[in-house]
Formats: sequence, C-alpha cells, structure tokens
Amino acid sequence: MSSQEAEYHSNDFDWEELRERIEDDPTLAYHFLPQSPSSSSSSSSSSLDSQSWNHFHSRHSTGKFFKERRYLFKEFPELASCGEYSKVLEVGCGNGSTALPILRCKESILVFACDCSTEALDRATENIQASNVVSASSRFRPFCWDFSTCRSPKWLMCDSCYKTSLPKQSMSLLDFDNCETDATNIASSKEGECCIGGMDFVTLIFTLSAVPLHRMYTAVAECFSVLKPGGLLLFRDYGLYDMTMLRFEADQRVGFREYKRSDGTRSYFFSLDIARDIFLSAGFIEVELEYCCVKSVNRRKQKTMHRVWVHGKFQKPM
Ligand SMILES: C[S@@+](CC[C@H](N)C(=O)[O-])C[C@H]1O[C@@H](n2cnc3c(N)ncnc32)[C@H](O)[C@@H]1O
Repeated sequence: MSSQEAEYHSNDFDWEELRERIEDDPTLAYHFLPQSPSSSSSSSSSSLDSQSWNHFHSRHSTGKFFKERRYLFKEFPELASCGEYSKVLEVGCGNGSTALPILRCKESILVFACDCSTEALDRATENIQASNVVSASSRFRPFCWDFSTCRSPKWLMCDSCYKTSLPKQSMSLLDFDNCETDATNIASSKEGECCIGGMDFVTLIFTLSAVPLHRMYTAVAECFSVLKPGGLLLFRDYGLYDMTMLRFEADQRVGFREYKRSDGTRSYFFSLDIARDIFLSAGFIEVELEYCCVKSVNRRKQKTMHRVWVHGKFQKPM
C-alpha cells in the first residue's frame, strides 16, 4: 500500500493499546518525564523559528519533496463539494502540497496561502505556476504571516469585523503587537469594502505542530477570527505516540510532547484532549475529532510502522 493510500484508513490498530505498550516500555520513559523550566519551549523566538523553516525549504527545494496531498478529499469531502467562489486559507502552506490539490478540485475556488517562511512561499508559487491547473496562478494568493505572533492582515479581516467575530475567551488577542505582514501579491479588498469578508475554510495541515504549545491558543484564535460564521477549520497533524515522536532522543525534548529537530524546526504531538481544548477555547464547535491509526510496512527494512495522526473538523458558530 502506498503511503498516500494508507492515509485513507484510520483504524488499523487501537490507539489505547498502542498507548499502553508505549507507556509500559522503560526504554521510552524519558518521553514522559517532567520538563525543567530552563529547557521549556517558551524560550523560543518566532524569528528563529521562521529562519529554521527558511533553511528547511531552501534545502528541500527540489521537485522530489513536493507531493500533492490528494487524500485530503477523502478526509475532508466538503472541500470538493463547496460552493462556487469559496475562499480557503491554507495556513503554513509550505511548498503547496495542500494548496495545489484544492485549486485543482474546483475551478472557481480561491486559495489564500500564508507561511512564516518566504522560501516556502516561493516554492509554493513555483509549484503552482508549474502545474497544469486552470488559472491556478490567479486563484492562488500567497502572503507572509506568522499566525502565532501577529494579527491577521487587515485586508483579510478588518478591525471592526475582527472584533465582532471574537469570542470572549480570545479577547487577549487584542494585545498582539501590531506586526506588519507582507501583503505584496495580494489583490486588496475592493474599494469601499472594509475587507474581503473572511474565509469559508481554514486548513491547518501539519502546521500547528510546528508552533510552540504556549502560542497555539492565540494562533488558533486567529484562525477563528478570519473565518466567516459557519466556516470550517480542517485540521490534520501529528498524534500522540506517532512513530516519529518515539524516534526523538531525550536531548531533543523542549517541552512536554514537544521536540526540536537538529535543523531547529519543532514538532508537537497532539492528544485529542489537548487538540479539543485548543480549538474549543478559541470558540469553535467540534464536528469531528479522532485519531487516525495507520500501520504501514517498510519492506526494505522489514519494519512495521505505527503512524498516528489527529484528524479534526471544527466549525465557527453561526
Ligand atoms: C510541515 S509544513 C506543512 C505544509 C503544508 N500545510 C502541507 O500540507 O504540506 C509546515 C509549514 O508551516 C510553516 N510554519 C511553521 N510555523 C509557522 C507559523 N508560526 N506561521 C506560519 N507558518 C508557519 C512552515 O514554514 C512550514 O512551511
């Protein structure tokens, strides 16, 4: 089974059984130790995080690292059945692996795509321009935005629309620094309109895990604020006890369930409880939230891999 095909299947094994096996294994005990405050994630700077992602994207700029996530429509069929001229914001678009299949699935869909890394935005633009998708270049609107430290650009959601869309819990967002976001290449809102009026969908696909845990709550509240009432946030990311978590060494831990790779990029592994808390605190309604547990075999190494992802759909109340 190819890895893309494998991702359709979500129940190859029971997550609770995996949890018991891992928590009983003394060689993995370092993953559960309390973290000392000196090594905690709160010391990380957002510009260092962006730099690490810039380096990552310049090192992985060749075509072989670009793989469209075509399986997304199985997981999120509402993307394929959405109305004409729907607007999607792909947060942390990377090289465009999620943006391109969305543009491909509907000729009228508009994809706004942000990333904190300008290298990522360049890669995504190149990949979209090189595709044979109808009017993809004009329907793809890339812009630089660190959604964990800066307010969304005003053309996406102006101040007055932003305030009226805020739930009580996330009012602290108004304390954000007024960071400048690079809005070049973006068609600004039409004259006389306050902003483009928000998104029908926000996709967060393997992006939230790259943000330090303590910044995830404000980051998700920003996603909430740019959605139209009734809009959907589609979430897929690393799940607790995924094989890639267990490969991290003790000295790569930077927080509880948080790790830093040698290139400086980070990864968090979500339990359902934490994911639920983050999205519900921002004001979302839970539509779907589950572990996807996929067993795949590496034939070359004769090894069975237990992959765990978290799949979620959350709605902004009407
Ligand atoms: C693993 S890639 C996922 C890319 C894409 N969503 C996909 O489906 O392949 C994570 C991306 O998130 C971006 N990213 C990390 N932290 C971010 C932040 N705080 N704000 C915006 N983008 C961020 C990284 O630059 C990287 O391109």
